[in-house]
Amino acid sequence: MKAMRLIDIDGPSLDVIETIVERAVALSKGSEPLAQTHTIANVFFEPSTRTRVSFEMAATRLGLRVINLDGERSSMTKGESVLDTLATLHAMGVELAVLRHGHTGICHELSEQLPPSLGLINAGDGCGHHPTQALLDAATLTAKGVRLSEAKVVICGDLRHSRVARSNVALLKRLGVGEIGLAGPEALMPAPGSGFDGLRHYDNLDAALIDADVVMMLRVQKERMDESDGGLDLADYHLHWGLTTERLAKAKPECWVMHPGPMNRGVELSAQVADGPQSLILDQVRMSVFTRMAIFEALLS
Ligand code: CP
Repeated sequence: MKAMRLIDIDGPSLDVIETIVERAVALSKGSEPLAQTHTIANVFFEPSTRTRVSFEMAATRLGLRVINLDGERSSMTKGESVLDTLATLHAMGVELAVLRHGHTGICHELSEQLPPSLGLINAGDGCGHHPTQALLDAATLTAKGVRLSEAKVVICGDLRHSRVARSNVALLKRLGVGEIGLAGPEALMPAPGSGFDGLRHYDNLDAALIDADVVMMLRVQKERMDESDGGLDLADYHLHWGLTTERLAKAKPECWVMHPGPMNRGVELSAQVADGPQSLILDQVRMSVFTRMAIFEALLS
């Protein structure tokens, strides 16, 4: 049997995407989960707090058996490949693997090579894709009553290295969002042909925020930068691109503030904004469990 996979936002049909978002909202409002009997594995080769724990909580709430494999303590340290690691888990009975890895494109590569009966969810691959983050962001906005078809969404920050931004742009386009605006330093703008073409790019955040309904701030990913990114001064970054209360006042009064986390307070946004009434940051975290439950239901049921 061919197992279901979620590698990027272009994979599932629009129907499946809408079902996941609506189901996540319903679960967050108390809808009964569909009990599951499968075995899944969380396989994380990069650090994670939100994604790893919320996948585990989602699986536990559905009654799934969960194996957690810490990449740094696995036999990968003895030279075993990711492909052999996943095939080994599958041979033991794992039916679906949730994979985070630093290598961009690894889930697409593995999807061609893995046994067809093993399901795979991309939980973030390098600078590639993070489809479950985009789905939980859409569910968070839907739960708040945001009508995406009429919304202006601004995505600000380190777009060049952001798998979250790439997946969000792909999903917002598929859901027919009103407008997407990009903002951030020139050195951190995405390369042409990397999924962001045709979108308006603002050279300052104040201008981008005018009429915005949602602003998604991105983490500065210092661990993925090299000399070509121009060396980043964090105080200077905050001065020009940080979201402060004064800047947020340029957007619509009810504009929501999002950040996938982990956030750097005083860099991407001020503590007042992060903890303020327009912040959805912890709503995103809460919705992450329900969205990942909905994803498991869609892939395993
Ligand atoms: N948003 C996100 O992927 O966070 P973690 O790296 O903590 O999983």
